[in-house]
Amino acid sequence: MTGPTADPEDLRQRAHAALLAARDRTSLLTTCVEDAELTAQHSPLMSPLVWDLAHIGNQEEQWLLRAVAGRDAMRPEIDPLYDAFEHPRAERPALPLLAPAEARHYAAEVRGRALDVLEKTPLHGSPLTDAGFAFGMIAQHEQQHDETMLITHQLRAGPTALTAPDPAPLDAPFTGPAEVLVPGGPFTMGTSTEPWALDNERPAHHRLVPPFFIDTTPVTNAAYLRFIEDGGYDEMRWWTPAGWAMVRQNQLTAPLFWRHEGGQWLRRHFGTVEQVPPDEPVLHVSWYEADAFARWAGRRLPSEEEWEKAARYDPGSDRSMRYPWGDADPTPERANLGQRHLRPAPAGSYPAGESPLGVRQLIGDVWEWTTSGFLPYPGFAAFPYREYSDVFFGGDYKVLRGGAFSVDAVACRGTFRNWDHPVRRQIFAGFRTARDAAPAGAA
Ligand SMILES: [Fe+2]
Repeated sequence: MTGPTADPEDLRQRAHAALLAARDRTSLLTTCVEDAELTAQHSPLMSPLVWDLAHIGNQEEQWLLRAVAGRDAMRPEIDPLYDAFEHPRAERPALPLLAPAEARHYAAEVRGRALDVLEKTPLHGSPLTDAGFAFGMIAQHEQQHDETMLITHQLRAGPTALTAPDPAPLDAPFTGPAEVLVPGGPFTMGTSTEPWALDNERPAHHRLVPPFFIDTTPVTNAAYLRFIEDGGYDEMRWWTPAGWAMVRQNQLTAPLFWRHEGGQWLRRHFGTVEQVPPDEPVLHVSWYEADAFARWAGRRLPSEEEWEKAARYDPGSDRSMRYPWGDADPTPERANLGQRHLRPAPAGSYPAGESPLGVRQLIGDVWEWTTSGFLPYPGFAAFPYREYSDVFFGGDYKVLRGGAFSVDAVACRGTFRNWDHPVRRQIFAGFRTARDAAPAGAA
């Protein structure tokens, strides 16, 4: 979509396409391994893949068939099994889950009926279906589980089951400035007009942000290695108390999946061991590691509002755009999204996706940790259910922004907010750093 005011018929087609694209991805992620791999638990942090598969169908049934179309439950007895709040991930393998063939059949059955509902439902006149919201929400939900399933694939032992072409190397090393000044002043954060924005992205509101500098690109493996080699993991002074406790308890020395062997740094990446690529954005670091690196570098992480201002604010028109490059949808030239590649592109890639101020790779490549906790915006209203965001506000979470190579464009916007515990390392997260700038007029 080129703007947030696309007409309902266009949105109906977009919802249809988004649902099909999500299912293609789900199918790929759940047919590239044997069924025994779908029912196994590859990490206590993750569900068995077959749980995600039936949960995707169950959420779709609850929202599109029951809430939108008023139909009866197809299999009410399975609802509790696939309620994410009822059973933590570690417990899920012990549940009497649908077997892979049954889960596929159930999800396909739901999908057939949901497409029928999409065809017949007016996309105006009810908050749930206005502009196709519920359909867009379900497509995003499925893509979010596709990202979760990709994490499971990364955690799983054994040879690689997924392949994708690597992003193009840089034509020439990136020689732009290391950081960019974002001018101080108010900007519009969040959205009240994006049709499929989730409740936590709403409403649009003004934020006053003092001037700051932000890195032009995400922090690279090469830069992170300098922190490691300078003894970053051995010196308490770079870490918050909780971060230092995590380092000591787990004897951390490097990002997750890295090891030092024969004088070089290697990492396991989707079942393949490779040399750590120096110019790629660093991945699989916790918030604590990102925060410690920033302190070591004499900098800090950006806040969530700083990140969003860097990503959306256009000083030329003095307004917030949907994406760094403008209001048009992401394309492969602008951002590394959608599992098209299974790794981030080298830092400095995607000049066509840079912000008006010249910041690159804000969308796609790696999720970016921010200093901010996950809190509601002024005027927040839970929609369509409290469990989407409301129950997480104020918890032990840090906000991540911008999506990653693992995220589909339908679930990635300049306003999109993700959140996770600061100890988490298995997610496709990296970061960029920032620093205060003297206010305009100061000496
Ligand atoms: Fe879910």
